[in-house]
Amino acid sequence: MKPTTLLPLLLQIAAFTSALPTADLPLSDPVEATRIADYWKPPIKSDIQFILTGIPDIDDGYINPKTGIYELDMFWTPAETMKGLKELGQRTVCYFSAATAETWRDDYKDFQKQDLGLELPDWPGERYLDIRRDNVLKVMKKRIDIAKEKGCDSIEPDNVDVYSNENGFKPVITPDDTIAYLHKLSEYARSKGMSVGIKNCIEILGDIFDDVDFAISEECVQYLNCTVYSNFTTAPRPGTEGKAVFEVEYLNYTYSGGWSDQGIALDPSKFRTNNVNFPGLTNEKLRRKLCNLDEPGASLETPYLKINTIIKTLDLDGFVMFCDGTAAKTQTKDVETGNRPGLNRRSWVREKSWRRMGGMPFDP
Ligand SMILES: *[C@@H]1O[C@H](CO)[C@@H](O)[C@H](O)[C@H]1NC(C)=O
Ligand SMILES: *[C@@H]1O[C@H](CO)[C@@H](O)[C@H](O)[C@H]1NC(C)=O
Ligand SMILES: *[C@@H]1O[C@H](CO)[C@@H](O)[C@H](O)[C@H]1NC(C)=O
Repeated sequence: MKPTTLLPLLLQIAAFTSALPTADLPLSDPVEATRIADYWKPPIKSDIQFILTGIPDIDDGYINPKTGIYELDMFWTPAETMKGLKELGQRTVCYFSAATAETWRDDYKDFQKQDLGLELPDWPGERYLDIRRDNVLKVMKKRIDIAKEKGCDSIEPDNVDVYSNENGFKPVITPDDTIAYLHKLSEYARSKGMSVGIKNCIEILGDIFDDVDFAISEECVQYLNCTVYSNFTTAPRPGTEGKAVFEVEYLNYTYSGGWSDQGIALDPSKFRTNNVNFPGLTNEKLRRKLCNLDEPGASLETPYLKINTIIKTLDLDGFVMFCDGTAAKTQTKDVETGNRPGLNRRSWVREKSWRRMGGMPFDP
């Protein structure tokens, strides 16, 4: 190509690219921030599948169940899986810890000594982070960049309720520190076109309403805390709209029926379920309880307080039961964790909430 023909082409390209929003707009500029704040958010009534042990195996070209939304470990789930899920019509919520440093994560070396607080009592190698420090925010922004590269539609920065734990920082981390931190994480993620979900953190739900796009509750039925979400799913203030809440309740089950090739439980009547916190409640009665189906006016179509409930086991593996009694097992693959095989996030989260609530509910 001669330079004379190349020049107009280059000018055209330049004009075209300058009309596109740049990825790195200054976040402090409110006009630009709103212009690019166009991202997917879960509809208020949605299903979700939540897998933190293993990663979905989509090698055979299908995913089951088609909940429409999958929450997965951001580091462990490869970009191909995220992209494959998207091709199968599923949105992805990418989970990472935003307030603890885990030695087995690739970017652990990016934390500085002053970022690190006490080690979590039951988790050697995992330490609280001082969420007020710039370096911590810097590491998290890089994680958000990875989420974007992998094709995540949304992030769930977990463990940000670090204020409720014995973390070793002085002066103490307050709920206001978490609110400020979430605001920055959220602004950054949204500027990259991803929505933001928050797990638990019920003490600050009202304050963070504008900074999050959905909430995840663990065991609000068992902790008698579902009503704290009523403001979240309905417009809390004039000019606002309610946002989706996903609720995960845990049970144990045995199943003597068969599974289909694609992991669908063929005979729901053959489930035997129980939950230590509801002794005596099994099967359908337990499911109705965990799904709030016995609350006045509640039904599968109009769930109590508009909360979307799924039932899982504490492993957070491929098993999921829905409020209508159907159940499925997403085919999963093991994760090469390098160390800590069989890592189970959940048991830690539960320990932590027990401590926060001052003991296990319904303890004899
Ligand atoms: C959650 O429920 C527990 C137990 O019923 C209660 O002590 C606590 O105050 C509730 N928390 C909130 C924020 O409502
Ligand atoms: C809902 O919001 C109203 C108004 O801010 C507040 O008075 C009320 O306590 C909130 N309800 C819950 C359950 O948090
Ligand atoms: C499931 O069973 C185990 C072993 O009995 C128990 O420790 C655990 O708390 C049970 N989980 C639930 C959610 O009931």
